[in-house]
Amino acid sequence: MSETTGPIALQVEGVRSGYDAVTVLKGLDFTVGNEIFAVLGANGAGKTTLLATLARLIPLMAGRIRFLGDDVSSLPPYETASRGMGYVPQENGIFPDLTVLENLSVGGMMGERPRDERLAEVFELFPDLRSKRAQTAGTLSGGESRMVACARALMQDPRVLLLDEPTAGLSPIYVDMFFEKIREIHRTRGVAIVLAEQNATKALEVADRVMVLTLGEAYAVIDARDVTTEQLKEAYRI
Ligand SMILES: Nc1ncnc2c1ncn2[C@@H]1O[C@H](COP(=O)(O)OP(=O)(O)OP(=O)(O)O)[C@@H](O)[C@H]1O
Ligand SMILES: [Mg+2]
Repeated sequence: MSETTGPIALQVEGVRSGYDAVTVLKGLDFTVGNEIFAVLGANGAGKTTLLATLARLIPLMAGRIRFLGDDVSSLPPYETASRGMGYVPQENGIFPDLTVLENLSVGGMMGERPRDERLAEVFELFPDLRSKRAQTAGTLSGGESRMVACARALMQDPRVLLLDEPTAGLSPIYVDMFFEKIREIHRTRGVAIVLAEQNATKALEVADRVMVLTLGEAYAVIDARDVTTEQLKEAYRI
């Protein structure tokens, strides 16, 4: 298992979670430093379950989650969000009946800095959203909705950003742009990023380390520069 880089953002110890009688995550142990940490795995491997568990939307069956050193295992999601956990779910990451600006303002309700300062930053990161700010979010394209969901989470000034397959279903040009933004967010804001992905090639391009999930178990945490996409695909059939 490779070493964590930078201060520890998340520490996951013996975490089991799932849905009622179904245990999906079967005892995970890993840490996330100030890095881009990719979670790879096939459909149904447990990536979404893991991110929702980290965001404290799914109760733990066992184990412990520390966020910036504090045990957050029994805290509600709004509490972890207000401490700086930004979550961009795989689906339904926006309020469809609100405008783009209103969506972003909801994110801006947390944190200290003036809303307009943060808005200027997210519009700089996603310039397309500035001209669409009065548009009802439900009428945006898939790529634009993804940008809004991500921008809304950034409006919270997160310390850790959980991104669940942010580019799934997007056209190649959006995919490349989005991965570039992920890198930029990490580099310029110092936000640790947990990125759930099926696209191993792209994940390896941006990640510092990757964890491969297979049926709810972590098979490895690997330094991204020590492994090729072909090796990953062959070893884990993703
Ligand atoms: N609400 C639920 N109730 C019961 N089982 C669930 C529920 N949500 C997910 N599961 C099951 O948990 C397992 C892991 O699902 P999860 O959504 O975490 O996978 P994933 O890695 O995100 O997959 P994908 O790449 O398709 O998004 C699957 O077997 C799924 O059927
Ligand atoms: Mg998923």
